[in-house]
Amino acid sequence: MSHLGISREDLLKLVDEALKVLPNSYAPYSNIHVASAILTESGRVYRGVNVENSSYGLTICAERSAVSAMITSGDRKPLAVAVVTDLEEPIPPCGACRQVIAEFNPEAVLIMYSAKSKKYIVKNLKEIFPQPFIIEK
Ligand code: THU
Repeated sequence: MSHLGISREDLLKLVDEALKVLPNSYAPYSNIHVASAILTESGRVYRGVNVENSSYGLTICAERSAVSAMITSGDRKPLAVAVVTDLEEPIPPCGACRQVIAEFNPEAVLIMYSAKSKKYIVKNLKEIFPQPFIIEK
């Protein structure tokens, strides 16, 4: 089965890319470690982890770290986004991250994966974020 042209195998490869950086997550306050990997139209992969701060509200989520890496490298079109945690259940991107991913592709495929239970869920961003705020350019 494929999701918007991306095979399950490719999505699981993307999970593997995120798993490689999961140990780098900096989460001493919540102890919830998150890593993300983004596959773009160009076939490249960008990764990010959550970066917490003593001033809690300054925390950066893994997905937004990965989007920053993508944009920094001059890439613009995410096709799929993996979100990996060490929690028992897979977690979806938070509301802020949904909006930030939607800026670049409101129909990105999401794979949400638990490194602990190996459970995963595949969804399209538009299913969990049907009305992004987009200013037409
Ligand atoms: N977190 C993410 O990295 N991505 C999300 O989409 C949800 C939350 C992080 C932020 C914080 O470091 C920890 O999870 C607990 O909220």
